[in-house]
Amino acid sequence: MVRGDVRDTALVKQTLVDHGIEAVVHFAALKAVGESVLKPLEYYENNVSGMLSLLHAMRESGCRRLVFSSSATVYGEPQQLPIPETHPRSHGNPYGHSKLMCEDMMAAVVRADPAWQMAVLRYFNPAGAHPSGLMGEDPNGTPHNLLPYVSQVAVGRLACLRIHGNDYPTPDGTGVRDYIHVMDLAAGHVAAVLRLLGAPGGFTLNLGSGRGHSVLEVVAAFEAASGRQIAHSFEPRRAGDVAVLCADPSQAQALLGWEARLSLADMCADAWRWQSANPKGYAP
Ligand code: UD1
Repeated sequence: MVRGDVRDTALVKQTLVDHGIEAVVHFAALKAVGESVLKPLEYYENNVSGMLSLLHAMRESGCRRLVFSSSATVYGEPQQLPIPETHPRSHGNPYGHSKLMCEDMMAAVVRADPAWQMAVLRYFNPAGAHPSGLMGEDPNGTPHNLLPYVSQVAVGRLACLRIHGNDYPTPDGTGVRDYIHVMDLAAGHVAAVLRLLGAPGGFTLNLGSGRGHSVLEVVAAFEAASGRQIAHSFEPRRAGDVAVLCADPSQAQALLGWEARLSLADMCADAWRWQSANPKGYAP
Protein backbone atom coordinates (compact mmCIF):
# COMPACT_ATOMS: atom_id res chain seq x y z
CA MET A 1 0.00 0.00 0.00
CA VAL A 2 1.17 3.54 -0.78
CA ARG A 3 -0.29 6.39 1.28
CA GLY A 4 -0.29 9.76 -0.44
CA ASP A 5 -2.22 12.67 -1.83
CA VAL A 6 -3.70 12.40 -5.33
CA ARG A 7 -2.31 15.90 -5.97
CA ASP A 8 1.24 14.57 -5.49
CA THR A 9 1.74 13.94 -9.22
CA ALA A 10 5.28 12.54 -8.86
CA LEU A 11 4.24 10.01 -6.20
CA VAL A 12 1.21 8.87 -8.19
CA LYS A 13 3.29 8.53 -11.37
CA GLN A 14 5.98 6.54 -9.55
CA THR A 15 3.34 4.26 -8.02
CA LEU A 16 1.75 3.60 -11.42
CA VAL A 17 5.16 2.77 -12.92
CA ASP A 18 6.45 0.68 -9.99
CA HIS A 19 3.36 -1.54 -9.94
CA GLY A 20 2.75 -1.74 -13.70
CA ILE A 21 -0.77 -0.38 -13.20
CA GLU A 22 -3.08 -0.94 -16.21
CA ALA A 23 -6.20 0.90 -14.99
CA VAL A 24 -7.00 3.50 -12.33
CA VAL A 25 -10.24 3.84 -10.33
CA HIS A 26 -10.42 7.40 -9.00
CA PHE A 27 -12.44 7.87 -5.79
CA ALA A 28 -10.36 10.51 -4.00
CA ALA A 29 -12.58 13.59 -3.60
CA LEU A 30 -14.74 15.62 -1.25
CA LYS A 31 -18.49 14.93 -1.55
CA ALA A 32 -20.78 17.05 0.62
CA VAL A 33 -22.96 19.50 -1.28
CA GLY A 34 -23.57 21.91 1.64
CA GLU A 35 -19.90 21.97 2.61
CA SER A 36 -18.93 22.73 -1.00
CA VAL A 37 -20.99 25.92 -0.89
CA LEU A 38 -19.10 27.04 2.23
CA LYS A 39 -15.66 25.84 1.07
CA PRO A 40 -15.63 26.13 -2.73
CA LEU A 41 -11.86 26.43 -3.05
CA GLU A 42 -11.31 23.20 -1.13
CA TYR A 43 -13.69 21.45 -3.53
CA TYR A 44 -12.06 22.79 -6.69
CA GLU A 45 -8.62 22.10 -5.22
CA ASN A 46 -9.27 18.50 -4.16
CA ASN A 47 -11.67 17.41 -6.86
CA VAL A 48 -10.52 19.34 -9.94
CA SER A 49 -6.80 19.80 -9.21
CA GLY A 50 -6.77 16.21 -7.95
CA MET A 51 -8.10 15.00 -11.31
CA LEU A 52 -5.64 17.20 -13.22
CA SER A 53 -2.75 15.80 -11.21
CA LEU A 54 -3.93 12.23 -11.75
CA LEU A 55 -4.30 12.71 -15.52
CA HIS A 56 -0.76 14.14 -15.69
CA ALA A 57 0.62 11.22 -13.69
CA MET A 58 -1.25 8.72 -15.89
CA ARG A 59 -0.07 10.34 -19.12
CA GLU A 60 3.53 10.40 -17.95
CA SER A 61 3.42 6.77 -16.80
CA GLY A 62 1.64 5.49 -19.93
CA CYS A 63 -1.45 4.25 -18.06
CA ARG A 64 -4.49 5.38 -20.07
CA ARG A 65 -7.50 3.63 -18.55
CA LEU A 66 -9.51 5.54 -15.96
CA VAL A 67 -12.75 4.83 -14.08
CA PHE A 68 -14.14 7.96 -12.42
CA SER A 69 -16.62 8.36 -9.54
CA SER A 70 -19.12 10.88 -10.84
CA SER A 71 -22.56 11.55 -9.41
CA ALA A 72 -26.22 11.87 -10.33
CA THR A 73 -25.80 15.42 -9.07
CA VAL A 74 -24.58 16.31 -12.60
CA TYR A 75 -28.20 15.98 -13.81
CA GLY A 76 -29.41 18.88 -11.66
CA GLU A 77 -33.20 19.19 -11.48
CA PRO A 78 -34.60 16.10 -13.31
CA GLN A 79 -36.45 16.90 -16.51
CA GLN A 80 -37.49 13.27 -17.02
CA LEU A 81 -37.67 10.14 -14.83
CA PRO A 82 -36.05 7.67 -14.74
CA ILE A 83 -32.94 9.59 -15.76
CA PRO A 84 -30.97 8.31 -18.77
CA GLU A 85 -27.30 9.20 -19.34
CA THR A 86 -28.38 11.50 -22.18
CA HIS A 87 -30.24 13.78 -19.75
CA PRO A 88 -28.86 17.36 -19.91
CA ARG A 89 -26.27 18.19 -17.27
CA SER A 90 -26.21 21.22 -14.99
CA HIS A 91 -24.90 22.15 -11.59
CA GLY A 92 -26.11 24.16 -8.64
CA ASN A 93 -23.13 24.04 -6.29
CA PRO A 94 -19.32 23.71 -6.35
CA TYR A 95 -19.46 19.97 -5.65
CA GLY A 96 -21.65 19.34 -8.70
CA HIS A 97 -19.58 21.77 -10.73
CA SER A 98 -16.38 19.94 -9.80
CA LYS A 99 -17.85 16.62 -11.03
CA LEU A 100 -18.95 18.26 -14.29
CA MET A 101 -15.51 19.78 -14.79
CA CYS A 102 -13.83 16.43 -14.21
CA GLU A 103 -16.14 14.73 -16.74
CA ASP A 104 -15.34 17.47 -19.26
CA MET A 105 -11.59 17.21 -18.66
CA MET A 106 -11.75 13.48 -19.32
CA ALA A 107 -13.68 14.06 -22.56
CA ALA A 108 -11.14 16.65 -23.74
CA VAL A 109 -8.23 14.31 -23.04
CA VAL A 110 -9.86 11.54 -25.10
CA ARG A 111 -10.51 13.96 -27.96
CA ALA A 112 -6.82 14.89 -27.99
CA ASP A 113 -5.61 11.29 -27.71
CA PRO A 114 -8.14 8.53 -28.52
CA ALA A 115 -5.79 5.92 -27.02
CA TRP A 116 -7.26 6.88 -23.62
CA GLN A 117 -10.16 4.78 -22.31
CA MET A 118 -12.40 6.65 -19.89
CA ALA A 119 -15.34 5.33 -17.86
CA VAL A 120 -17.60 7.84 -16.09
CA LEU A 121 -19.81 6.19 -13.45
CA ARG A 122 -22.63 8.38 -12.15
CA TYR A 123 -23.69 7.11 -8.74
CA PHE A 124 -27.19 7.60 -7.42
CA ASN A 125 -27.49 7.22 -3.58
CA PRO A 126 -24.88 4.79 -2.24
CA ALA A 127 -25.84 3.13 1.06
CA GLY A 128 -25.08 0.15 3.24
CA ALA A 129 -21.84 -1.42 4.42
CA HIS A 130 -19.62 -4.42 3.83
CA PRO A 131 -21.64 -7.53 4.82
CA SER A 132 -18.82 -8.67 7.17
CA GLY A 133 -19.67 -5.79 9.51
CA LEU A 134 -15.99 -4.79 9.45
CA MET A 135 -16.35 -1.70 7.23
CA GLY A 136 -19.06 0.91 7.43
CA GLU A 137 -19.85 4.57 6.92
CA ASP A 138 -18.72 6.95 9.69
CA PRO A 139 -19.00 10.55 8.47
CA ASN A 140 -17.13 13.30 10.30
CA GLY A 141 -19.51 15.34 12.46
CA THR A 142 -23.25 15.16 11.94
CA PRO A 143 -24.14 13.04 8.88
CA HIS A 144 -25.61 14.90 5.91
CA ASN A 145 -26.94 11.78 4.15
CA LEU A 146 -30.03 9.88 5.18
CA LEU A 147 -28.75 6.35 5.84
CA PRO A 148 -25.89 7.22 8.21
CA TYR A 149 -28.21 9.62 10.04
CA VAL A 150 -30.89 6.95 10.50
CA SER A 151 -28.25 4.46 11.56
CA GLN A 152 -26.91 6.81 14.25
CA VAL A 153 -30.43 7.43 15.57
CA ALA A 154 -30.95 3.65 15.78
CA VAL A 155 -27.75 3.17 17.79
CA GLY A 156 -28.56 6.07 20.14
CA ARG A 157 -25.85 8.48 18.97
CA LEU A 158 -28.42 10.95 17.61
CA ALA A 159 -31.81 11.59 19.17
CA CYS A 160 -34.17 12.14 16.27
CA LEU A 161 -34.22 12.08 12.47
CA ARG A 162 -35.43 15.31 10.91
CA ILE A 163 -37.33 14.44 7.75
CA HIS A 164 -36.87 17.28 5.29
CA GLY A 165 -40.35 17.73 3.83
CA ASN A 166 -43.51 15.58 3.79
CA ASP A 167 -45.36 17.66 1.21
CA TYR A 168 -43.63 16.43 -1.95
CA PRO A 169 -45.76 15.04 -4.78
CA THR A 170 -44.78 11.46 -3.86
CA PRO A 171 -46.99 8.65 -2.48
CA ASP A 172 -46.22 9.47 1.20
CA GLY A 173 -45.05 13.06 0.72
CA THR A 174 -41.36 12.39 1.52
CA GLY A 175 -38.48 12.51 -0.96
CA VAL A 176 -37.80 9.48 -3.15
CA ARG A 177 -34.26 8.37 -4.07
CA ASP A 178 -32.58 5.52 -5.88
CA TYR A 179 -30.48 3.85 -3.15
CA ILE A 180 -27.76 1.49 -4.25
CA HIS A 181 -25.84 -0.92 -2.02
CA VAL A 182 -22.11 -0.15 -1.83
CA MET A 183 -21.35 -3.80 -2.74
CA ASP A 184 -23.36 -3.44 -5.96
CA LEU A 185 -21.51 -0.20 -6.60
CA ALA A 186 -18.18 -1.99 -6.10
CA ALA A 187 -19.25 -4.74 -8.51
CA GLY A 188 -20.11 -2.04 -11.08
CA HIS A 189 -16.54 -0.74 -10.85
CA VAL A 190 -15.06 -4.19 -11.35
CA ALA A 191 -17.28 -4.69 -14.40
CA ALA A 192 -16.22 -1.27 -15.75
CA VAL A 193 -12.50 -2.03 -15.36
CA LEU A 194 -12.91 -5.44 -17.03
CA ARG A 195 -14.76 -3.82 -19.92
CA LEU A 196 -11.99 -1.22 -20.41
CA LEU A 197 -9.37 -3.99 -20.38
CA GLY A 198 -11.34 -6.15 -22.80
CA ALA A 199 -12.68 -3.74 -25.41
CA PRO A 200 -11.64 -0.42 -26.95
CA GLY A 201 -13.33 2.90 -26.17
CA GLY A 202 -14.97 4.33 -23.07
CA PHE A 203 -18.43 5.00 -21.68
CA THR A 204 -20.61 6.99 -19.30
CA LEU A 205 -23.08 5.00 -17.20
CA ASN A 206 -25.58 5.45 -14.40
CA LEU A 207 -25.07 3.18 -11.39
CA GLY A 208 -28.44 2.96 -9.70
CA SER A 209 -31.08 0.32 -9.07
CA GLY A 210 -33.85 1.97 -11.07
CA ARG A 211 -36.09 1.67 -7.99
CA GLY A 212 -37.10 4.60 -5.81
CA HIS A 213 -37.69 4.55 -2.03
CA SER A 214 -39.14 7.33 0.10
CA VAL A 215 -37.61 8.57 3.35
CA LEU A 216 -40.42 6.88 5.30
CA GLU A 217 -39.76 3.59 3.48
CA VAL A 218 -36.09 3.86 4.49
CA VAL A 219 -37.10 4.50 8.10
CA ALA A 220 -39.42 1.46 8.11
CA ALA A 221 -36.75 -0.76 6.49
CA PHE A 222 -34.17 0.33 9.07
CA GLU A 223 -36.58 -0.28 11.94
CA ALA A 224 -37.19 -3.80 10.60
CA ALA A 225 -33.44 -4.49 10.19
CA SER A 226 -32.44 -3.13 13.59
CA GLY A 227 -35.46 -3.90 15.76
CA ARG A 228 -35.18 -0.30 17.02
CA GLN A 229 -37.63 2.59 16.71
CA ILE A 230 -36.33 5.53 14.68
CA ALA A 231 -37.67 8.69 16.32
CA HIS A 232 -38.43 11.24 13.61
CA SER A 233 -40.02 14.63 13.09
CA PHE A 234 -41.26 16.34 9.96
CA GLU A 235 -39.44 19.57 9.06
CA PRO A 236 -39.57 21.96 6.11
CA ARG A 237 -38.01 20.95 2.81
CA ARG A 238 -34.20 21.18 2.53
CA ALA A 239 -32.96 23.80 0.06
CA GLY A 240 -31.87 22.28 -3.24
CA ASP A 241 -33.69 18.94 -2.74
CA VAL A 242 -35.86 17.48 -5.48
CA ALA A 243 -38.95 15.28 -5.00
CA VAL A 244 -37.76 12.21 -6.90
CA LEU A 245 -34.43 11.06 -8.30
CA CYS A 246 -34.25 7.68 -9.99
CA ALA A 247 -31.82 6.15 -12.48
CA ASP A 248 -32.44 4.47 -15.78
CA PRO A 249 -29.73 1.79 -15.31
CA SER A 250 -30.46 -0.06 -18.59
CA GLN A 251 -27.23 1.06 -20.30
CA ALA A 252 -25.07 -0.46 -17.55
CA GLN A 253 -27.00 -3.72 -17.93
CA ALA A 254 -26.58 -3.66 -21.72
CA LEU A 255 -22.88 -2.76 -21.79
CA LEU A 256 -21.49 -4.40 -18.65
CA GLY A 257 -24.12 -7.03 -17.84
CA TRP A 258 -24.29 -5.27 -14.47
CA GLU A 259 -27.36 -4.60 -12.39
CA ALA A 260 -28.04 -3.81 -8.74
CA ARG A 261 -28.91 -7.07 -6.96
CA LEU A 262 -29.19 -6.06 -3.31
CA SER A 263 -32.33 -4.54 -1.80
CA LEU A 264 -33.04 -1.71 0.62
CA ALA A 265 -33.46 -4.40 3.32
CA ASP A 266 -29.92 -5.63 2.55
CA MET A 267 -28.54 -2.07 2.76
CA CYS A 268 -30.18 -1.55 6.17
CA ALA A 269 -29.17 -4.98 7.52
CA ASP A 270 -25.53 -4.47 6.49
CA ALA A 271 -25.38 -0.87 7.73
CA TRP A 272 -26.86 -1.99 11.06
CA ARG A 273 -24.44 -4.93 11.42
CA TRP A 274 -21.55 -2.48 11.27
CA GLN A 275 -23.18 0.34 13.28
CA SER A 276 -24.36 -1.93 16.10
CA ALA A 277 -20.86 -3.45 16.40
CA ASN A 278 -19.30 0.03 16.27
CA PRO A 279 -21.68 2.40 18.09
CA LYS A 280 -19.04 5.13 18.15
CA GLY A 281 -17.96 4.48 14.58
CA TYR A 282 -14.21 4.29 14.09
CA ALA A 283 -13.51 6.45 17.14
CA PRO A 284 -11.46 4.55 19.79
C1 UD1 B 1 -26.92 13.92 -1.69
C2 UD1 B 1 -26.31 14.99 -2.53
C3 UD1 B 1 -25.81 14.36 -3.83
C4 UD1 B 1 -24.86 13.21 -3.53
C5 UD1 B 1 -25.60 12.20 -2.65
C6 UD1 B 1 -24.75 11.02 -2.25
C7 UD1 B 1 -27.57 17.02 -1.91
C8 UD1 B 1 -28.55 18.07 -2.35
N1 UD1 B 1 -27.30 16.04 -2.80
O1 UD1 B 1 -28.07 13.44 -2.37
O2 UD1 B 1 -25.18 15.32 -4.62
O3 UD1 B 1 -24.47 12.61 -4.73
O4 UD1 B 1 -26.03 12.86 -1.47
O5 UD1 B 1 -23.67 11.39 -1.46
O6 UD1 B 1 -27.02 17.08 -0.81
N2 UD1 B 1 -33.15 13.42 4.24
C9 UD1 B 1 -33.91 13.71 5.37
N3 UD1 B 1 -33.25 13.93 6.56
C10 UD1 B 1 -31.88 13.88 6.67
C11 UD1 B 1 -31.12 13.58 5.51
C12 UD1 B 1 -31.78 13.37 4.31
O7 UD1 B 1 -35.14 13.76 5.32
O8 UD1 B 1 -31.35 14.10 7.78
C13 UD1 B 1 -33.84 13.14 2.97
C14 UD1 B 1 -33.53 14.13 1.86
O9 UD1 B 1 -34.39 15.22 1.90
C15 UD1 B 1 -33.71 13.24 0.62
C16 UD1 B 1 -33.28 11.85 1.10
O10 UD1 B 1 -33.39 11.88 2.52
O11 UD1 B 1 -35.07 13.18 0.25
C17 UD1 B 1 -31.85 11.49 0.72
O12 UD1 B 1 -30.99 12.55 1.17
P1 UD1 B 1 -29.39 12.41 1.11
O13 UD1 B 1 -28.96 11.11 1.70
O14 UD1 B 1 -28.82 13.66 1.70
O15 UD1 B 1 -29.06 12.31 -0.43
P2 UD1 B 1 -29.44 13.31 -1.64
O16 UD1 B 1 -29.87 14.63 -1.14
O17 UD1 B 1 -30.34 12.58 -2.56
